[in-house]
Amino acid sequence: MRYGESDAESENDAIVAGVGLEDGELTVNSDSSDRGDDNGHPVHRVLSFVRRSGRLDDRLRRAREKYGDRYLLVASDGAGSFDVRPGFVLDASLVACLWGRSRPLVVEVGTGQGENIVAAARSHPEVNFLAVEVYDPGVAHTMLLAGKADVDNLRIAQVNAPDLMAVISVGTVSEVWTFFPDPWPKMRHHKRRLVQEGFADSVRRSLADDGVWRIATDIEDYALHVHEVMDERRDFSNSGDLVVSLPLGHVGKGNADEASALPHGDFKESRRFDGRVLTNFERKGLRAGRVIHDFTYRAAGHHEADRPTA
Ligand SMILES: C[S@@+](CC[C@H](N)C(=O)[O-])C[C@H]1O[C@@H](n2cnc3c(N)ncnc32)[C@H](O)[C@@H]1O
Repeated sequence: MRYGESDAESENDAIVAGVGLEDGELTVNSDSSDRGDDNGHPVHRVLSFVRRSGRLDDRLRRAREKYGDRYLLVASDGAGSFDVRPGFVLDASLVACLWGRSRPLVVEVGTGQGENIVAAARSHPEVNFLAVEVYDPGVAHTMLLAGKADVDNLRIAQVNAPDLMAVISVGTVSEVWTFFPDPWPKMRHHKRRLVQEGFADSVRRSLADDGVWRIATDIEDYALHVHEVMDERRDFSNSGDLVVSLPLGHVGKGNADEASALPHGDFKESRRFDGRVLTNFERKGLRAGRVIHDFTYRAAGHHEADRPTA
């Protein structure tokens, strides 16, 4: 069996992409990306997604052809690359230029089929929206929805989200949304989860001082992971007003039942964010009896860029 073929994270990707795991569409090239450093030495990067051939059906191919120019924000290093091209910086002036107006910017990371961000763009024409997604069918489907809705306040970047967040200028973004990140349930894959310290650093830098990072997951173990990464940070405050009891240890894939026997602790989480629509992905989690965890982390304190240099 090739790496990742039977993992739940791939299944989730397949659900989002609307393809089955058994249809032969999934190909796994690697679980990381090797990119040269300034001296040409390879740098091993852990990625939060599995690179797959996402063949487009006719409908999605037509959507991509019809709406690509209108919606794509080309930030990548070249065709087929999810790396952000060297020198690319997303700052307020580029936002004003690409969206045609300066408005608050909301970035959704891992938009899947785009249901959520297109609904938000429709309901909030006074806000600029940026979808970040790597998977071809998801990107094309987002274009399809956006084109049908005729929204003009949405752009889509098909790049590795941590790379992009790292080159957004300080304070450019009003909200970052990460809804149902791939769970990576095996213990040895937890490092591939999108919510990580370095990613949180980039999110914080990108946020305006009153900015917010909203996260949702239907995986209890991921909820604990989010608290572990986020709750002790001084540059974010957890503004949840619900108290949720979670196991205090990780159990890994297939051992979720053991979690209930572990000691539990109380954590602050949020009510469902009004601006989050029910996606197919969430529906599937609810049908499986999973509990949705919502998080709201407000920018607080100072981010790195504000720190006085020694
Ligand atoms: C489980 S799906 C959830 C999709 C959507 N948010 C929803 O709720 O239906 C996670 C999505 O994140 C995308 N993704 C994972 N890692 C990513 C990365 N590093 N950059 C951009 N997209 C990523 C995957 O391709 C997938 O579409």
